[in-house]
Amino acid sequence: MNETAERRSTKNVRAFLRDLPKTELHLHLEGSLEPEMLMHLARKNRVDIPFRSVEEIRAAYRFTELRSFLDIYYQGMNVLCGEEDFYDLTMAYLKRAAADGAVHVEVFYDPQGHTARGVPIAAVTDGILAALADGREQLGITSLLILCILRHLPEDDGFATFRQAEPWIADGRIAGLGLDSTEKGNPPGKFLRLFAAAREAGLKLVAHAGEEGPAVYVADTLDVLGVDRIDHGNRALEDPALVRRLAERGITLTVCPLSNLRLCGVTDMRHHPLKRMLDAGLKVTVNSDDPSYFGGYLLDNYVAVAEALELGRHDLVALVRNSIEGSFLEGPVKQAHLGRIERVLETGG
Ligand code: HPA
Ligand code: ZN
Repeated sequence: MNETAERRSTKNVRAFLRDLPKTELHLHLEGSLEPEMLMHLARKNRVDIPFRSVEEIRAAYRFTELRSFLDIYYQGMNVLCGEEDFYDLTMAYLKRAAADGAVHVEVFYDPQGHTARGVPIAAVTDGILAALADGREQLGITSLLILCILRHLPEDDGFATFRQAEPWIADGRIAGLGLDSTEKGNPPGKFLRLFAAAREAGLKLVAHAGEEGPAVYVADTLDVLGVDRIDHGNRALEDPALVRRLAERGITLTVCPLSNLRLCGVTDMRHHPLKRMLDAGLKVTVNSDDPSYFGGYLLDNYVAVAEALELGRHDLVALVRNSIEGSFLEGPVKQAHLGRIERVLETGG
């Protein structure tokens, strides 16, 4: 393809994907903190950061694996202090997601990354929830909030956070419990009691697995923690029997292509396992994970795999359908969004 044709085709794919009603199911709000906001909040809140400019911040975003990213990610979130900071962070993300054609998002936050610095969980949670409510009203984007537990910390620390979050769990404004941070050396079984308590409390359950950890972590996340959805799940491919089980049970996997590339889980997007996962019958979705750090929001992730893996419309629509079906929305709402996909396809998609 010559350059002009290539540019035209990129534009078409982007416009096609933009119009389809998508959800985003794997997004860390703290990972949407853009360097400009980071710099602004550091000055406003008088937090010391080892960077003098937005360019210096961007230059530091070169990672070799998950751990090297997490070090920078935890450092970045230190500038978030007051309720309004969490509001602004969340609102900025929702505007980007809405501009990408997302109709619904299920977002993660890491309260332990804030309470450990003395920021009250109420400031964090209320700031985020106020923006989610305004996003619904002003942007027409619906949302659910998922509290993530940091797996490098002891289970007891997670339990303390779970108890602090009780008021928002009781009134349903926290919809789910997730598990993130350093996967290797922190197997799912470490959080068995906490996930059982969260299930008892009526929360939806998700957990990162198979991003850098082995396939057995994916199996244990399913069998031991009893999750409703797996975040990433890439390394499940190493166990064909597990792949069959995930496919038969229709377990949704929230795959994050640009994240996998930037954290060196894949060396080239053309080798990304997403197409193999789809072809194996897995319920794969596309998500941005930490878009500020990994160089792209939801639509950028779709376009990246569409081009590198030369996905046709059939696969792209399947990914979008999976994102609706794999969400925690109620059945009739899912049906309404799925109906909209059909209408976009009929009217010139
Ligand atoms: N993996 C694990 N933990 C995380 C990530 C991730 O990609 N982003 C934020 N916390
Ligand atoms: Zn993640």
